[in-house]
Amino acid sequence: MKIAFFSAQPYEHNFFDALNTDHTLLYIESALNANTVALAQGCQAVCCFVNDVLDREVLLRLQQYNIAVVAMRCAGFNNIDVPVANELGITIARVPEYSPYAVAEHAVGLILALNRHIHRAHNRIRENDYSLHGLMGFDLHGKTVGVIGGGKIGCAFVRIMRGFGCRVLVFDPGKAPIEGAEHVDLDSLWQQCQVISLHCPLNTQTHHMINAQTLSKMPQGAMLINTSRGGLIHTQAVINSLKQGHLGYLGIDVYEEEASLFFRDHSDTIVQDDVFARLTTFPNVIITGHQAFFTRDALHKIALVTLNNLHYFELGDIDKMETVN
Ligand code: NAI
Repeated sequence: MKIAFFSAQPYEHNFFDALNTDHTLLYIESALNANTVALAQGCQAVCCFVNDVLDREVLLRLQQYNIAVVAMRCAGFNNIDVPVANELGITIARVPEYSPYAVAEHAVGLILALNRHIHRAHNRIRENDYSLHGLMGFDLHGKTVGVIGGGKIGCAFVRIMRGFGCRVLVFDPGKAPIEGAEHVDLDSLWQQCQVISLHCPLNTQTHHMINAQTLSKMPQGAMLINTSRGGLIHTQAVINSLKQGHLGYLGIDVYEEEASLFFRDHSDTIVQDDVFARLTTFPNVIITGHQAFFTRDALHKIALVTLNNLHYFELGDIDKMETVN
């Protein structure tokens, strides 16, 4: 098959080229949206990532081009109108699990860096400033950590935090209890946890689950970590809470409006997003640009599963694909 590979980054080519034997991969740097979908004409499949837009308009155009399969190179599929894809007979494949460890470990990295102010300490040393004021942290040992979403990544995260000697509370309405963690309702989690890490999908129930009301239930000085999806957080509410000194720390790898920012170099341009710009001014905020998945192991698995999905689609073996619909 000829595959239109949208949002292609140079670092992905090697992993896909090393494993691809059957297909022609047309690497396209642009994200897929209504303006770029025409680039898929002549292809039999599209391969997409987290910020590609697969709404009704785009899916209809794909159907007109006789494209019947979308292979996502990620786990989340909140950027796809799945009911419309079903209606049009377009199969959506994804990589449900490539490395839960990569994302869980990144979340822990954000916790450690925020707690011990490693980003600030690093800058100080480079300025020949060895003073310690403002760098005091707390022992993670003995603290209560909350996990929202006890799936693959949430479970990996629970195991690591248990290793630190933390008490771990989990909220996940669809999950059997996780060994070493206590399952609680959301209100108990907000109230008891010094650190809260989000590992649930973005959907209509979870959209803006972090808002003024839920933030007010967290203890003064709590730490919030989001490596899941930006839309889980009402960003302005979080900024207000940080300004009031209620939320103590914020570590995010995802941002609601990240599509126009992340995965590209904007260093020669002026940031137009004032909400994002404000976030970058806080000393107790660390932002990474959707890189939690970004390990060699994860990229290898993403390439492997994506190519397998396309292989099975070509054979008509849909049951063997990792499908969404
Ligand atoms: P998973 O499907 O294994 O687990 C998600 C869990 O969330 C499930 O156990 C489900 O029952 C639970 N859940 C659903 N609705 C919930 C709600 N309202 N409240 C609490 N829990 C709820 O997914 P996995 O692999 O653990 O990934 C979690 C999320 O991480 C993905 O949805 C994706 O958005 C994000 N992700 C981020 C990456 C990054 O690079 N930053 C990379 C990969 C995934």
